[in-house]
Amino acid sequence: MIQRLSALAILGALLAAACGTKPASDTTVGGESATVAAAGLAVFAPLPSRMEVKGEPVNEQKIALGRALFYETLLSDGHNVSCNSCHALNGFGADGRKASLGFNGRPGGRNAPTVYNAAGHVAQFWDGRAADVEAQAKGPILNPVEMGMPDTAAVLKHLRASATYAASFRAAFPEAREPVTYDNLGSAIGAFERGLVTPARWDSYLQGDSAALTGGEKEGLQTFLAAGCQGCHMGAYVGGDRFMKAGLVNAWFSQADSGRIAVTKDANDLFVFKVPSLRNIEKTGPYFHDGSVANLGEAVRLMAHHQLGKEMNPADVQSIVTWLGSMTGELPLSYIAFPQKPK
Ligand code: HEC
Ligand code: HEC
Repeated sequence: MIQRLSALAILGALLAAACGTKPASDTTVGGESATVAAAGLAVFAPLPSRMEVKGEPVNEQKIALGRALFYETLLSDGHNVSCNSCHALNGFGADGRKASLGFNGRPGGRNAPTVYNAAGHVAQFWDGRAADVEAQAKGPILNPVEMGMPDTAAVLKHLRASATYAASFRAAFPEAREPVTYDNLGSAIGAFERGLVTPARWDSYLQGDSAALTGGEKEGLQTFLAAGCQGCHMGAYVGGDRFMKAGLVNAWFSQADSGRIAVTKDANDLFVFKVPSLRNIEKTGPYFHDGSVANLGEAVRLMAHHQLGKEMNPADVQSIVTWLGSMTGELPLSYIAFPQKPK
């Protein structure tokens, strides 16, 4: 056994060197197919337990306040929409709709990405226009087609009128002279979102439990790696760490949304979007920035064609879809439990 492992380790290291990547720390991962997988796996990483900013201590009061605000319909003009309306936490953090109606006045609108495993991304939104979840959270409340509050003063008036919120903000931001501020609201919602992680069998596999994936899933992983999908979908979120052009090899099927160029004004960013995370992907359809594709297999086939210039056969498409299922994680049920509503 030990001999077999070290032989695998050497093979893995050789393959990794050939691919210019570091070998995975545990080369036993993947069992029989470990030699290829070990090298390929080096581009991935298990989820962190929280997507924390380095050096920032976890503040339980802030998290509790953020949780309450995430579910709070008082933050919308009609008192009927909360963050949870479009990012249902018990529904994998998305709304299952094609696109939110006329979001930001963009033609066609955009699909709501999941809030799970999002805080660790390089930036927020399909075009990365918010730097982090703290900054992002301040947007939807004032967005006329989302929560539609007229201005921050109106939001703060509601919160300050609530004795419970006044106390919750004070507890979360004890050092502040006036704790109920719009920035602190963003900071609290962000602190809550940083705990929205969904560890999956995929993580157990990456941590060395070869049996965590079925044979079919391991095959699907090999198909994904052989096709070159990990060139963009990599890291702990299997995406989320960079921006890439939609239609890198073959022009994208829709040109209605020009993507990140609206943020950077850089011509190179025409049709560039954040590479989405593939975690929980089987649960967060429909797919792409405009939600135009309902079927996951079809999304995979289109990716191979547009991003890699490959026409993928249905068996390979299905194989990848099978592996993607291993990234469907467990919802943190006690963390997302609906809080006691402040009076
Ligand atoms: C009416 C539906 C709607 C509501 C309400 C809403 N969102 Fe969103 N959310 C969206 C859409 C659509 C996008 C994508 C927009 C884009 O990329 O241009 C989005 C994007 C996000 C993202 C970025 C995720 C990523 O991977 O880039 C986060 C985080 C998020 N919303 C959190 C929130 C929070 C927190 C609230 C409450 C303060 C909220 N949302 C309210 C629809 C909604
Ligand atoms: C060159 C970079 C690149 C490569 C290679 C690539 N992707 Fe993507 N992927 C993207 C980008 C960018 C998007 C977002 C496109 C959009 O919505 O406009 C995306 C979106 C997706 C989506 C939809 C996600 C969602 O939440 O809507 C899936 C599924 C997907 N990719 C799977 C794959 C698979 C499987 C492969 C290999 C066959 C692959 N990708 C190869 C960059 C890439």
